[in-house]
Amino acid sequence: MSEGSQGVNPQDASLSGSRKLIRNPISLIGLALAAVAFANIVLLVLIDVLASHPSPYIGILAYMVAPAILVVGLVLVPSGMLYERRRRLHAVGVPPHFPRLDLNNPAQRSTVAFVLSFVVMFSLISAVGSYQAYEFTDSVQFCGQLCHTVMYPEFTAYQASPHARVACVDCHVGSGASWYVKSKLSGARQVYYTALGTYPRPIPTPVQNLRPAQQTCEQCHWPKKFWGAQLKTFTHFGSDEQNTPRVIRLLIKTGGGDPSLGQAGEGIHWHMNIANKITYFATDEQRQVIPWVHMEDAQGHVTEYATKDNPPTQEQIDKASKRRMDCIDCHNRPSHIYTPPDLSVDRGITGLSIDATLPFIKQQGVQVLTADYKTSDEAQKAIAENIDKFYRDKYPQIASSKADSIKGSIVELQRIYRTTFFPYMKVNWKTHPNNIGHFYYQGCFRCHDGNHVSKDGKVISKDCNSCHTVIDQVEGGTHVAQIPAQTFKHPVDLGDMTAVNCSDCHSGGVGP
Ligand code: HEC
Ligand code: HEC
Ligand code: HEC
Ligand code: HEC
Ligand code: HEC
Ligand code: HEC
Repeated sequence: MSEGSQGVNPQDASLSGSRKLIRNPISLIGLALAAVAFANIVLLVLIDVLASHPSPYIGILAYMVAPAILVVGLVLVPSGMLYERRRRLHAVGVPPHFPRLDLNNPAQRSTVAFVLSFVVMFSLISAVGSYQAYEFTDSVQFCGQLCHTVMYPEFTAYQASPHARVACVDCHVGSGASWYVKSKLSGARQVYYTALGTYPRPIPTPVQNLRPAQQTCEQCHWPKKFWGAQLKTFTHFGSDEQNTPRVIRLLIKTGGGDPSLGQAGEGIHWHMNIANKITYFATDEQRQVIPWVHMEDAQGHVTEYATKDNPPTQEQIDKASKRRMDCIDCHNRPSHIYTPPDLSVDRGITGLSIDATLPFIKQQGVQVLTADYKTSDEAQKAIAENIDKFYRDKYPQIASSKADSIKGSIVELQRIYRTTFFPYMKVNWKTHPNNIGHFYYQGCFRCHDGNHVSKDGKVISKDCNSCHTVIDQVEGGTHVAQIPAQTFKHPVDLGDMTAVNCSDCHSGGVGP
């Protein structure tokens, strides 16, 4: 230092004394802030990397809050120095606008080298940091866990879905900068609503500005993929004393196909997505009531279907905002599936966590699940009390001989409630219809109800064998429908099955 100071004039001396310049309150505060923030970043990043289940808050602290403080600190240091320099120069009375740099001066040289290498290092670190921040705001934790009460239903359902390992953003944002910015802007609005507690409950669905399926689902599943037919087994239990098991095996004709690969186009995907362009409009927000459907086939022939009862007027058709059918119109719950309690209890019994030998357990289980509760805690208590009481009052012997299996069934019913009912957000299976199939909701029958006809008399088919074939049906221990019978035998005779709507009786709650 002393060597460097020798040959310089007083002005330069005051500048090369830059180490002293830093000794001003603003810069010192800045330095302290930066040092603390930096230490925190190192520590938090270590935790984030090493912990097997880091809390989502770690990410927000490590990649967003601490770096912001670091930047503020680092801006304060030179600002304080500039201010200090001005002040000193004013005192001397000779104010050159910029410091004179002399790289022949070893002290200045090392200062410049130090500053330059610091700038390079800091830019590198902050580049990594902003990439981490970008990754973090796209992570499942950020979307699903950070605002836990708001997204809790979606996040819980997601974790039990086939897409539990697909990131939220792969369906909700997709790739590309413009959708990233769009989603973060709408996200910022949501954070604001959340802070004020004014968010809607439940969060409205369908998502109006969901990115088109071509840019999300079709990045992983492509429409022409040939799925063939899929054998699915549906197991239900009656609401009688024996909880009579009823098993249906359906061959669902998913199909698809690309003729150039030597596969005949066939099945649900082929007709709906590839060979035909289908457009429709709905009269309700949730797209459940569809009075008008427009179909254009590969040759360009157009057919328009409208409901026979209560058809829409031409003016309504012209005015309505129409939607081109895509994956989401059938697969609207690929990830957030709020299973109807009827089905949850059936699955509990099939999975042996609810004991099928307990009389009326199916009926009682659905009943306690669907009662009206203000909070999840209230439900947990009521489920235990009511099931216990039912067996103590009606089957005192079983209540004592099968105490353990009653307890186990209660635990499972409580779990079902916790993972499919969200009173705080007003979410349950009724608020979020699933459009695949037609059993608990109208689903395919929104159009395939036999009531949508064209001017020349064509009907959107409700033929029971157009989408699937019954392979087998077991009631109790007996096969009631089997190939070659190929028809579904309803447990209660309803006459012509094409004249009924399943969900009129099968509400997914109390009832058949
Ligand atoms: C496999 C794709 C997929 C994944 C993964 C996914 N979602 Fe969704 N999400 C959807 C679809 C499809 C809808 C409903 C679309 C419709 O009906 O308009 C939806 C709807 C929503 C809704 C609106 C309310 C509702 O239930 O309809 C919220 C909130 C939501 N998702 C949050 C999330 C969060 C948080 C994650 C990650 C934890 C996530 N989503 C992961 C596809 C996905
Ligand atoms: C990041 C890739 C990815 C994206 C995006 C994606 N999926 Fe999937 N999807 C998968 C994988 C992987 C599976 C298989 C999961 C398994 O069987 O464990 C799957 C399975 C499915 C299944 C079969 C479910 C079942 O019950 O077995 C359907 C239906 C489906 N996806 C529809 C969709 C729809 C609709 C979207 C858009 C909203 C979508 N997927 C977006 C990767 C993706
Ligand atoms: C007309 C309604 C409809 C449309 C539109 C539709 N699907 Fe499907 N898809 C089905 C049905 C029905 C099944 C049979 C599975 C079931 O019943 O759960 C199915 C099955 C699937 C499966 C699982 C196949 C298997 O064998 O496991 C995937 C994946 C899938 N669809 C993806 C898509 C994608 C991606 C799109 C959009 C390009 C799409 N679907 C459009 C009705 C539809
Ligand atoms: C928005 C209305 C709409 C919905 C919802 C809908 N479809 Fe369709 N579907 C149509 C139309 C229109 C046609 C073509 C009818 C024709 O051939 O003129 C069609 C044709 C089909 C065909 C070919 C039928 C045949 O006889 O060739 C299958 C299979 C099919 N749909 C399955 C499904 C399944 C499965 C669902 C539910 C997951 C579903 N559709 C939901 C409108 C709909
Ligand atoms: C437009 C296509 C379509 C038509 C028409 C149709 N189904 Fe289905 N059906 C489906 C699909 C898709 C599923 C599978 C849903 C799923 O994967 O959960 C299904 C499921 C079922 C199931 C099993 C339900 C369960 O969850 O246990 C039965 C039973 C059934 N259909 C009977 C019928 C009968 C009876 C008819 C005639 C009135 C009929 N279907 C007409 C598409 C159709
Ligand atoms: C008029 C009312 C009514 C209609 C409409 C109706 N069902 Fe049912 N369904 C019943 C009754 C009652 C039972 C017997 C319930 C029991 O024993 O617990 C039943 C039982 C069933 C079962 C056995 C599963 C169970 O939970 O016990 C299946 C599967 C079924 N129906 C499918 C269908 C399908 C598919 C349709 C539409 C094509 C349909 N039902 C329409 C009244 C109806």
